[in-house]
Amino acid sequence: MAGKSFFLNDREQAYSGSRGALLLDVLRDDLGLTGTKDGCREGDCGTCVVLLGESQPDGICYRTVNSCLLPMGDVNGRHVVTIEGLNQPDLSPVQQALLDEGAIQCGFCTPGLVISLTGFLLGGALISEADGIAALGGNICRCTGHVAIRRAIARLCEQFRDLEPTEGKPSSERIAALVAAKVLPPYFLDVPKRLRNLTEAASTQVPGRAGEARSSIPVGGGTDLFVTQADKLRDAELTFLSQRADLQGIRLKGDVCCIGAATPLSAIEASPIIRRMLPDLGRHFSRIASQPIRNRATLAGNIVNASPAGDLSVMLLALNASAVLARRDRQRTVLLRDFFRGYKVLDLAADEIIVEIRFPIPEADTHFNFEKVGRREYLDIAGASSAIRLRVQDARIVEAHVAAGSVAPIPLYLRNTSAFLQGKPISATTAREAAAIAAGEISPMSDVRGSAEYRRALLPRLILAHFLTLFPERVREEELV
Ligand SMILES: Cc1cc2nc3c(=O)[nH]c(=O)nc-3n(C[C@H](O)[C@H](O)[C@H](O)COP(=O)(O)OP(=O)(O)OC[C@H]3O[C@@H](n4cnc5c(N)ncnc54)[C@H](O)[C@@H]3O)c2cc1C
Ligand code: FES
Ligand code: FES
Repeated sequence: MAGKSFFLNDREQAYSGSRGALLLDVLRDDLGLTGTKDGCREGDCGTCVVLLGESQPDGICYRTVNSCLLPMGDVNGRHVVTIEGLNQPDLSPVQQALLDEGAIQCGFCTPGLVISLTGFLLGGALISEADGIAALGGNICRCTGHVAIRRAIARLCEQFRDLEPTEGKPSSERIAALVAAKVLPPYFLDVPKRLRNLTEAASTQVPGRAGEARSSIPVGGGTDLFVTQADKLRDAELTFLSQRADLQGIRLKGDVCCIGAATPLSAIEASPIIRRMLPDLGRHFSRIASQPIRNRATLAGNIVNASPAGDLSVMLLALNASAVLARRDRQRTVLLRDFFRGYKVLDLAADEIIVEIRFPIPEADTHFNFEKVGRREYLDIAGASSAIRLRVQDARIVEAHVAAGSVAPIPLYLRNTSAFLQGKPISATTAREAAAIAAGEISPMSDVRGSAEYRRALLPRLILAHFLTLFPERVREEELV
C-alpha cells in the first residue's frame, strides 16, 4: 500500500493502492473517469494517453504518456490531466478544430487525439505542422480519418502560430497563453504552487540513492516491463527510478558525455548538449516508438531489456558507450560491447542497477549515422538496423565503431568490421568490403519480422547506406552495385 497523493485534473487525489497498478485501471475502474479509453494496453493505439506534469525548477513540464503502461508509483507527486480535466463549458480550440474538420468519427480515439494535440501546443517548441503530426504518432485512427485530422492540425498551427517558442522548457507564459485561449481550463494557473506543496510532502518518500542495493525490480519508463508483465508487477516490490533526481540529466565531464540512467528519451532528444554533439539524433529517435513512449522510455531500460532489436543499444554500441553500474557502496564501468553476453544474458548482478551511460564526446571530425528497416517506417521494431560512428581525417578513417540490431542473439558490436575500417580511405571499395565483412560476422535468426536469409542480405545494404548518407561526395550509388 502506497499512501501517496498526486494531482488529478483540478484536485488533489489520495491513493493508497498498489504502486504497480496501472493508472488507466485506477482512472477507469476506481475513479470512474472513463473518458480515457482502454484499447491495446501495449502503448500502440493512444486511446489511453493522458498528460503527466512534473515540477521542475522553472515550472511544470507536461508530457503525453500512455496510462496503460504507467504504474501508480510513478504518478506520485505529479499532475495527471485526463480528458475530463480539459473539458470546459465550451469546446476547447483543439476539440473545435477536430469537430469542424470532420476528424471525429468513431469517438473512441478522440480523447487521445485531444490530449495529444493539447500536449503538442503545451510542448514548448515552435508550432509546426510536422511537429503536430509527430505528436499524433502514437494515436491510431482505425477508420482512416487521417486527412481530416491533418486538416485539424493545420488549423491549430495557423491559430497558434504566434505562440512564443520556449526551447522545450516548462513555460508559465505558454500555460497562461493557452489558458487565455481556452485550450486549458483556468485551474492550470494554480497547479505549480499546489503541486510544489504536494511534491515537497511526497519527496520524503522517494526511494533510494545512487549506489543503493537493488532489493526490488527497477522501473525505468516501464515501457517494456508493463507491456509483458503488468499482472505480475501489480503487487511486486518496485523501485521507480524516474523519481530519483540523481539519475536524471545530461552533463559533460571532460571529454565524456554522461546521461543519467532514468533520463527519458524525449529529454535526451531535446537537450541542447546532445543536439550540438549529434545533430541528427532527433531524426533517428523519431524512428523509435511514439512520442508518449519516448516521453517515458530510458536508455538503461533499452539496454537491460537486451532485445537484439534494441535501437538505442545499437546506437550506443556505435557511440562506444559504457554503462556505469552501482550496488551499495561500489560502482564499476563496463563497455557496452562487453555487457551483452548472450541472449538476454548480461554482465549485471542481481543487486546492481545502471546509474549512468557514458560515451566519448564526438569530435568535430566524427560522423554518426543510424539505419533501420522495418515493415513500417515509424512505430515498428527493426527487421535489421545498424549504427556507425567514424572519425575521418583527410578522407581516411582514423577510428571506427559499427553495430547492428536483429542480426544476432544480442545487439551486436561488429568487431571485425570496425577493425577493418580503421585506416581505410572513404571510398566505394571500402564500403563494399566492410559490407561483406559485416555479413560474415552475424548470426541472424528467422522470425515474424524476417528470415535469416533476408537479414543476412539486408545488413550489408545498411552498411552501404551509411556510406551513401555520410559521404555522398565520395561514394556514389552506382559504384556500390
Ligand atoms: C509501443 C512501443 C513501441 C516501441 N518501439 C521501440 C522501438 O522502436 N525501438 C526500441 O528499441 N524499443 C522500442 N520499444 C521498447 C521500449 O520502449 C524500449 O526498449 C525502452 O527503451 C525501454 O525503456 P524503459 O525505461 O521503458 O524500460 P523498463 O520497462 O522500465 O525496463 C526494462 C528492463 O530494464 C530494467 N531496468 C530499467 N532501468 C534500469 C536500470 N537503470 N538499471 C537496471 N535495470 C533497469 C527493468 O527492470 C526491466 O527489466 C517500444 C515499446 C513500446 C511499448
Ligand atoms: S490502451 Fe493502447 S496505447 Fe494504451
Ligand atoms: S475517428 Fe476513431 S478510429 Fe478514426
